[in-house]
Amino acid sequence: MKRFVALKVNGEEYDIDIEPNRLLLHALREDVGLTGTKEGCSIGVCGACSVIVDGKLVSSCLTLALACQGKEITTIEGLAKDGRLHPLQQAFLEYGGFQCGVCTPGQIMAAKALLDANPNPTEEEVKEWMSGNLCRCTGYYKILEAVMAAAHNKISSDFQVKHERKTAKIQSLNVYKDS
Ligand code: FES
Ligand code: FES
Repeated sequence: MKRFVALKVNGEEYDIDIEPNRLLLHALREDVGLTGTKEGCSIGVCGACSVIVDGKLVSSCLTLALACQGKEITTIEGLAKDGRLHPLQQAFLEYGGFQCGVCTPGQIMAAKALLDANPNPTEEEVKEWMSGNLCRCTGYYKILEAVMAAAHNKISSDFQVKHERKTAKIQSLNVYKDS
């Protein structure tokens, strides 16, 4: 039998009817409509589904949505503010910390949880913390570089501006069109 649950995600409240065994991962993606959180292994091993619940990093594929009622859930969609990327998102772009991007939301959420608790981690601490997030593409070094760059504020201040200009240029060339 379905149960009513109010989920607070990225500061917005979503009232949804779900089965009691509905996983947070599926509630976020299919009921709330936030598909940034990815499903990889479905058994708590790969970290692709990582989100932050009441300040703690959790695997949403192992978490019941009902158990998150009344808690603050943060997903990758909640990081950019006022049209500006979070420093970790900027660092992943600038340092090439991704290729296919499937693991990236989970990597960034894991890194955010680390930097929230420990703003000045060593490389070893980053490696150990991020060891629960698997990537099939990058070989991890770029991810490590990106997290260290975000932690030590080594992101070009004009990176976002350059990125916006590049996007505007591509749009003006009609390389792709908004549908
Ligand atoms: S999908 Fe949750 S840890 Fe892999
Ligand atoms: S960027 Fe492809 S799996 Fe990590």
